[in-house]
Amino acid sequence: MADIQNQPKKIVYSALKPTGDLQLGNYIGALKNMVKMQDEYNCIYMVADMHSITVENLPADLRRRTYDFMALFLAIGLDPEKSILAVQSQVPQHAELAWVLNCHTQFGEASRMTQFKEKSAKAPENVNVGLFAYPTLMAADILLYQTDLVPIGKDQKQHLELARDVAQRFNTKYSPTFTIPDGFYPKQGAKIFNLLDPTAKMGKTDDNTNGVVFLLDDADTIMRKFKRAVTDCDTAIVYDETKPGISNLITIYSVFTGTPVQAVEKEFAGSNYADFKTKVGEAVVEYLRPIQTKYRDLMNNKDYLVEVMKSGAEKASRIANRTLAKVYRKIGFVQLP
Ligand code: TYM
Repeated sequence: MADIQNQPKKIVYSALKPTGDLQLGNYIGALKNMVKMQDEYNCIYMVADMHSITVENLPADLRRRTYDFMALFLAIGLDPEKSILAVQSQVPQHAELAWVLNCHTQFGEASRMTQFKEKSAKAPENVNVGLFAYPTLMAADILLYQTDLVPIGKDQKQHLELARDVAQRFNTKYSPTFTIPDGFYPKQGAKIFNLLDPTAKMGKTDDNTNGVVFLLDDADTIMRKFKRAVTDCDTAIVYDETKPGISNLITIYSVFTGTPVQAVEKEFAGSNYADFKTKVGEAVVEYLRPIQTKYRDLMNNKDYLVEVMKSGAEKASRIANRTLAKVYRKIGFVQLP
């Protein structure tokens, strides 16, 4: 892992921002693939704390969640022996490349970002410049490591496309500098929906947390949330895109039990929605139980978490420096010997 750019394995980068707590959508959309990809690729995974401050945050919450996310990364199976695990603000090259990319991104293209429009509408009192430049920081994250693949959910697709556009533009203007990254989406569950509003994405910061299942929810809370899940006015347990409520639950059950959708439909033919919701809840509780135990152990060992962060930041920084030096040279910054 020491010198990943000289190895033939593809490079994978992804990050999650510690605003709100990790929820099932994060797991199904991104984290599950991140774990799987570790054996085949050279992976770099980060807690994107710099992205978090684009919205209002209590410093104490941000600090706690940064440890929390790192502990959960490890608890779900991300392995610092196989992958680089780091905190974004501890690798200064991210902010440095982001500035350069800001100067190669047009105001118009950043203005078209759906998440910027949604977030500005949600908090009109805090439409800060960082919120606007959020996607160029994300592009910097990805491009610094010459990333080939980015495991993400569907909601990040537009940001990834901006990263590709900016990279292509830079490569054409100067000379080939950045690898053009591809998004890597899960076959199932690239968009998990809120249990109480199956037309809306499940999000860490949704107003109604009763529709969001957090990875650290206790068993009773998880069961209650699934039992109250909104389903469609039908009774058949069949996957059908025009019935987002039941389809969302089928996807969740399928992912957490490893059962293909058709087999789920067969297993529950003749069952009713209430029984199925209970089964989905139980499957999620069982799946999360060992993860939560491991998480609690890790949170009692902050020294170890700091060690992982430190070693991850050092390794990431070494790789990031190479890309940054190349970029600085190409744009005409004088480099000291
Ligand atoms: P964030 O923290 O909002 O979400 C983390 C990951 O979870 C996925 N996700 C979902 N997937 C399926 N269904 C859902 N309901 C759902 N909700 C969230 C997201 O698509 C994402 O993959 N900007 C990013 C963090 C980031 C990043 C990066 C990602 C910063 N730098 C570089 C990739 C590469 C974000 O806010 O994700």
